[in-house]
Amino acid sequence: MTRPVVRVVGSVNLDIVARAPALPRPGETVIGASLERHPGGKGANQALALARLGTDVRLWARTGDDAFADEALALLKAEGVDLSEVVRLADAHTGVALIGVDPDGENQILVASGANARMRPEDLPTEIPEALLCQLECPLEVVAEAVRRARGLVALNLAPFALLPSECLQRADLLVLNEIEAEALGDQVAQAGGAVAITLGAEGACMLRGGRQTARVRPPAVRVVDTTGAGDVFTAALLVSLQEGLDDPGALRFACAAAALSATRPGAQPACPTRREVEALLSGDAT
Ligand code: RIB
Repeated sequence: MTRPVVRVVGSVNLDIVARAPALPRPGETVIGASLERHPGGKGANQALALARLGTDVRLWARTGDDAFADEALALLKAEGVDLSEVVRLADAHTGVALIGVDPDGENQILVASGANARMRPEDLPTEIPEALLCQLECPLEVVAEAVRRARGLVALNLAPFALLPSECLQRADLLVLNEIEAEALGDQVAQAGGAVAITLGAEGACMLRGGRQTARVRPPAVRVVDTTGAGDVFTAALLVSLQEGLDDPGALRFACAAAALSATRPGAQPACPTRREVEALLSGDAT
């Protein structure tokens, strides 16, 4: 079987993570945190998750020309993701995400976009022949133009939430969003041209087509350590399984299992599971 190919147009960040006894409220200072650094960014996380699940991936992105970029791209490079379309800009810093994680695995994220905000639609490839996957952590006009130039399957993860032109929502074969984002999208969920997957946190996820629910799945029970990047893994795994022809319940089961596994480990990219790990969890063989 030939491996599917996906072009990801999206963000690259270095995640600076403080694991803390509690998340601060506005104006509050919380001490006693431990510090970690991991490669991150929704685009890069989804690219890595796709690669670990057996997809050939090209990433179209922008970083600074700094040491953070080397660190942020290290796992993608190790996993064989094609980084030839990642341009290092001399006058911008690599995107940075400041992430707080509490003992229940909940997080708070602040992003300093840096080079991610410097993506320009006119720099995109004239045509995108393979499947396209975008998130909204980069300029919306870039996402809209990438969708216009796409000739294959289009998948959009509407995170962090923003309104895209309705033609993008119509064109997308797959929209992935969480409950809060689905509420913000309102009636447009029913107008989406393709499948809409809504993640429901610990309750799993559901899938809609033409406004009608086609599947609803609860995730396997796991011990949650860190939910950062779980939505990215879910999106990548759902795209992989739909590309492979699984039906909606089967695709949702695969995506929920992959996301649940990622929540059992710290960090976004270091936690991305391999296909073997997801299959083991689904077959009850996971240790
Ligand atoms: O979705 C998780 C990601 O959001 C983190 O890796 C962080 O970089 C932020 O972009």
